[in-house]
Amino acid sequence: MAASRHVFLMCPPEYFNVAYIINPWMHGNLKRIDNAVAKQQWRALYDAITDRATVRLVASQPGSPDMVFTANAGLVKGRQFVCSRFRYPERQYEEPYFADWFMDRGYDVSLMPRDCPFEGAGDALFDRGQDLLWMAHGHRSIEGAREVLAGRLDVDIALLHLVDSRFYHLDTCFCPLDGGYLLYYPLAFDDASRREIERRVPAARRMAVGEEDALAFACNAVGIGQTVVVNRATPEFVHTLGAKGFEVVQSPLTEFMKAGGSAKCLTLRLDE
Ligand code: ARG
Repeated sequence: MAASRHVFLMCPPEYFNVAYIINPWMHGNLKRIDNAVAKQQWRALYDAITDRATVRLVASQPGSPDMVFTANAGLVKGRQFVCSRFRYPERQYEEPYFADWFMDRGYDVSLMPRDCPFEGAGDALFDRGQDLLWMAHGHRSIEGAREVLAGRLDVDIALLHLVDSRFYHLDTCFCPLDGGYLLYYPLAFDDASRREIERRVPAARRMAVGEEDALAFACNAVGIGQTVVVNRATPEFVHTLGAKGFEVVQSPLTEFMKAGGSAKCLTLRLDE
């Protein structure tokens, strides 16, 4: 048994909806969410995670339909919380709720400068094999966020550039797993970023996924030890991960895919 359980923050989908369009997945899905199905899918994910880890909840807020995607709350490292500065005004209403949640629990909370969009653990992920933070820019967070983070967190930061608008957050196409493994969709990145990934992660630890898995958000995975929770995956994906010692748990999240999110987006790891 692992010595301590991982801890994740989630937000119930009380007010979840597609109420505006800020990414390509949301097109054609305006007000098309079946909230009863969304609640059922969210609950199944919650159950799959609570079987293996501890989940804390932040209260959902009317007027913030995307708040369910807690990965975007900010970036946690130890007792430090860097609150996100959302690119689009539609999601900026979430910022004070997340800041308060962490403040109330004694975290050292800091904000990003006003002119510096940064969308938290949607665009910044810790490697699980080395002391390294992967940060992406291109759609939501800006390149300048790296310098701000470097000044606040004591960690080496590798910068990646996202180039496919369907993969607008790093966690939609890139997922560090225990033991220094990495799941990723190479075509979401520019050449220089792909080289940077290949330079930092040995070939035997890199698991490149194909387009079908990428589009089902198989890289948007919640890693809990050797378990990987995803929306949906091909048998090939399950096999590749199985060969490296990982068990894949599939928990359908079709209603959340309509908003451009899935398993990992719906969680924020607190024990970083
Ligand atoms: N509709 C949300 C947005 O576009 C989805 C966020 C998904 N979160 C994530 N970490 N990828 O902001």
